[in-house]
Amino acid sequence: MAMLLLVGSAVTVQAIDPAAAAETTLRAAAAKAGLFFGVAASPGRLSSIVGQEFNQLTPENDMKPATIATSSGGLQNTGSADTLVNYAQTNNMLVRGHTLVWHSQAGALQGASQGTLNTFIGNAINRWGSRIAYWDVVNEALDDNNTGRRRTQWPHSLSRDANGDGDYFDAGDTDVIRDSFIRAKQVVQAGGLSTKLCINDYDVDGLTVSGGTPNRKANALYDIVRTYRQYIDCVGFQAHFNDNPNSIITNDLQANIQRFADLGVEVHLTELDIDDDLSNNDIGAGQAENYRKVVRACLNVARCTGITVWGIADSESWRSSERGLLFTGGGGNYQKKAAYHAVLDELNKGRDVSTDPTSPGTPTATPSVPPTTPPVTPSVPPTTPPNPTTPPATGCSATVSLNSWTGGFVATVRVTAGAAPINGWSVQLTLPSGAAVTNAWNANRSGSSGTVRFSNVSYNGRVNAGQSTEFGFQGTGAATGLTPVCTAS
Ligand code: XIL
Repeated sequence: MAMLLLVGSAVTVQAIDPAAAAETTLRAAAAKAGLFFGVAASPGRLSSIVGQEFNQLTPENDMKPATIATSSGGLQNTGSADTLVNYAQTNNMLVRGHTLVWHSQAGALQGASQGTLNTFIGNAINRWGSRIAYWDVVNEALDDNNTGRRRTQWPHSLSRDANGDGDYFDAGDTDVIRDSFIRAKQVVQAGGLSTKLCINDYDVDGLTVSGGTPNRKANALYDIVRTYRQYIDCVGFQAHFNDNPNSIITNDLQANIQRFADLGVEVHLTELDIDDDLSNNDIGAGQAENYRKVVRACLNVARCTGITVWGIADSESWRSSERGLLFTGGGGNYQKKAAYHAVLDELNKGRDVSTDPTSPGTPTATPSVPPTTPPVTPSVPPTTPPNPTTPPATGCSATVSLNSWTGGFVATVRVTAGAAPINGWSVQLTLPSGAAVTNAWNANRSGSSGTVRFSNVSYNGRVNAGQSTEFGFQGTGAATGLTPVCTAS
């Protein structure tokens, strides 16, 4: 069978026919496998290789607040970013906006209030609109050294853990991550944009770090994504691999990608570079082999939809001493390294999602997607709910959308207020026998099988007339025929 189609999602999964001719560029091989392969660049690095080899572009520095933000959240100096966006459009590349809320390279925004951050978020998203496929809304929110805690410096000093339990998810807590994503989601929805909203961090790649210690930073990121799933569409693992004990490549990289993918978000490796004398990696191999394994880990998870290398050539890398990229040379004259050939070869082998529980497996019916369609415009995430039905005159209505696989499902429920605002809601639904809820986000829950009831949490009870909010839950078994009933308070 030449390819697979992931039913219920527009993410295309293709296992490539080995007899087919191998593609000769990274972008063509990636497109055939159903993912993007991108590069970080600045306008001075836009040599022809960029458009030839890559189908996604991340401004390495030119969309950071330090470059484009004024202290009141306005925009300035957007010329270089415009150049990059235009180049990408001309060369049929996706753009990742990088980044809106970050403690580093914050420039005039350093120390700003949430209100000013929100102003900037709106201005930046609206300037480029749907020309930006993915925005890194929040970058590097978590502390170093595998503590599993948030950073404490600004902008995280804006957050308040009211009951001191170590998270920011409770009634009374405020959270700069949550509030920034809520703002970004509002802007995207108000503008009808296709832009997807991502959270990005480093040292979150494996389930474990050196010595098999749990990767607490990855776990903390997972909790954030699960809790704020309704606002977060995608997760970026920076994937800067080096000899730092928390930055090594581990054999459980794929399993970690998988657990995020299982939440229904796209996963991307956003800033990939691999130290060429990495001695401390669990998978113990040379650079080309390490690249191969990292690319394979993504290819084996259907919802790992893109990889971006953090620069073209070693000499032009932010960490040039690690020689971590795919080309030598510089200044537009580049030579392919062994790592390049390994990545190309691995991409040409295509996906193998036989271990991905969210993939339906090999279809018996005739596949319905042509094998060479490149994923130029990434597709709607699988949990996007159907258009809400016309709201009732008062009270609320609820619709549910499901992402199911054999033995499990994720449900996204959209609660829509009627002609009047509501201050709270509860949704009741009955699961078929054999199905059970294992966890829920953005809602309180009572019951796990049979009739289950969900009610609003502190920050999503108030819904304006005709507006919507979403919550979700995950479960085991098959959740067919769900009919949610909404009651407003
Ligand atoms: C780096 C750039 O590559 C450098 O040119 C700049 O001097 C500093 O920032 N994590 C990120 C990226 O999210 O924005 C950083 O980029 C690398 C680490």
